[in-house]
Amino acid sequence: MTSMTGRLALRHHGPDDTLTMRDLLVPIYSATHAPLIGVDPWNAPEKWWQRLTDTYSKTRDFDLVTGWDGDEVAGYAFGSPNDSARLWPSIHPVFPHLNAAGPVYIFREFAVRPDVQRRGYGMLIHDELLSGRPEQVAHLLLRKDNLPARAAYVSWGWKAAGEVKPFPDSQTFDAMALDLTSRR
Ligand SMILES: CC(C)(COP(=O)(O)OP(=O)(O)OC[C@H]1O[C@@H](n2cnc3c(N)ncnc32)[C@H](O)[C@@H]1OP(=O)(O)O)[C@@H](O)C(=O)NCCC(=O)NCCS
Repeated sequence: MTSMTGRLALRHHGPDDTLTMRDLLVPIYSATHAPLIGVDPWNAPEKWWQRLTDTYSKTRDFDLVTGWDGDEVAGYAFGSPNDSARLWPSIHPVFPHLNAAGPVYIFREFAVRPDVQRRGYGMLIHDELLSGRPEQVAHLLLRKDNLPARAAYVSWGWKAAGEVKPFPDSQTFDAMALDLTSRR
């Protein structure tokens, strides 16, 4: 499916399609995470691609949104629902009006090429991935020093929701949550 929003064409990709897009996605990951690469093996582009192919793409209802500026990918976001109840204890205090049960949409990864940032592309890609999701709430992890992304998320309605260390070899991230019911 492709939809046009201004100059940006938005496309959805399932897991099989995503796994053919290594040469389009890894350079964007590398450019947007350049200061982190080499600092921690966790951030190596090959490790990132391995996490996407071996873990994230295999999750239920995996969806990747790409934003196309002409015939070039300007950015991407991907995610999938998590069916366990483990996130609700940190989400429910933030959004007590929600029913603390059911799947939570994991807004997993998100990046826009540095040369086309601050044009509103990030918001369009973010909104496209989350639009029409049936879950009550979305959840993401954010590096503590990632001030540009934090500013974007706060302006789009995300609220702080504790901390998470997702893998034994990863750092501890700040968690944020977004009430999807208020966007319907
Ligand atoms: C987060 C990211 C995807 C935003 O993409 P974008 O296309 O610039 O986003 P938009 O243009 O829609 O919105 C930008 C908003 O983000 C915030 N923002 C982006 N860059 C910023 C910066 N350098 N300083 C402060 N705020 C910034 C602002 O709130 C801005 O809105 P404004 O331009 O109206 O002030 C992009 O900065 C990025 O790829 N960062 C590196 C990867 C990353 O950190 N991903 C998120 C991991 S959780």
